[in-house]
Amino acid sequence: MSTDNKPLIAVTGATSKQGRSVVATLLQSQRFRVRAFTRRKDSPEALRLKRLGAEIATVPLELGRQEDLVAAFKGADGAFLMTPPIAAPEEIEAPLGRQLADAAVEAGVGHIVFSTLENVDKITGGTKYAPHFTDKASVADYIRGLPVSHSFIMLAFFYTNLIEYYAPRMEGDTLLLPIYLPEDFAAPFVDPLTATGPVVLEIFSNPERYNGKTLPVIGEIISPREMVETFQRVTGRKAEYRNAFDREGLLNYFPEFAANEFFVRELLGMVEYAVEYGYFGKEHDLEWSRRLAPETLNWEQFLRTSGWRGDKRSFGA
Ligand SMILES: NC(=O)c1ccc[n+]([C@@H]2O[C@H](COP(=O)([O-])OP(=O)(O)OC[C@H]3O[C@@H](n4cnc5c(N)ncnc54)[C@H](OP(=O)(O)O)[C@@H]3O)[C@@H](O)[C@H]2O)c1
Repeated sequence: MSTDNKPLIAVTGATSKQGRSVVATLLQSQRFRVRAFTRRKDSPEALRLKRLGAEIATVPLELGRQEDLVAAFKGADGAFLMTPPIAAPEEIEAPLGRQLADAAVEAGVGHIVFSTLENVDKITGGTKYAPHFTDKASVADYIRGLPVSHSFIMLAFFYTNLIEYYAPRMEGDTLLLPIYLPEDFAAPFVDPLTATGPVVLEIFSNPERYNGKTLPVIGEIISPREMVETFQRVTGRKAEYRNAFDREGLLNYFPEFAANEFFVRELLGMVEYAVEYGYFGKEHDLEWSRRLAPETLNWEQFLRTSGWRGDKRSFGA
């Protein structure tokens, strides 16, 4: 089959942790062509995607760019859609997600995969504030009503959060890991860099099988205590857990977060939701992604592969 006959998948947020995984896996499968959306075609990550064989489309994920987006989606057989990190009180995530979906449909895309999360507002009767979950769920509801075949993936907490956003600090000879969950609360975590691609490849390879489905993506279910123990074992460094899950703990370790009260409320709301209701709804098969892609990294493998030893690091583009 010539290169041109392979189905083309458009990937939004292509330089993100999720997006990079999707682009690389689709291309490595040699079953798809990829068009990678980015705001910055000359960034190191965009150039890397180009070297892998992706076609680069410069298009910002912004409201009011419907025409540009439709043009960028033209000719694509499938679209992987995601919304970038958007901190409250900014309220553009839901309209942006809807705009991406509308543009993909208008361009004639055959199947949409959207990276969503649970509807925290609905599940908690409005008692927990986590708009970056609820907004994605409302986009998913919107996509369900569009005349297009679609599937949803739902990623667990990223391991990379502890490295990018909740970075540890040294105290004497001990590394303190302020974690946003209670020490013994086991929560689903995932490595977005190795886990997203395989599930998206599976869906685009069998769109009829996954039409209408919502699929959780999980590396393992692990508590902060186990994460710290594993960190010590893998790195040989002395480390201790610290509470960053309630307001006092969070602001004690990350006083800079106090500059945005909405952000603080959102972090606390998300964690309270996860602890009190469970991160994923009970209807999901939590083993699905691990069965499909056993090579997805667990925390120990993530530590060994990344070589992370406690430094603040960015996994961004
Ligand atoms: N952290 C978690 O535990 C977790 C769990 C589940 C879901 N999520 C969701 O995952 C999404 C983030 O995914 P990710 O971590 O893979 O993304 P990421 O690595 O932070 O990358 C975001 C990408 O989006 C693009 N982008 C376009 N417009 C942007 C904007 N206005 N601000 C920032 N980036 C923009 C950037 O690419 P260019 O510069 O190339 O355009 C960037 O590479 C969020 O919606 C988050 O809620 C996170």
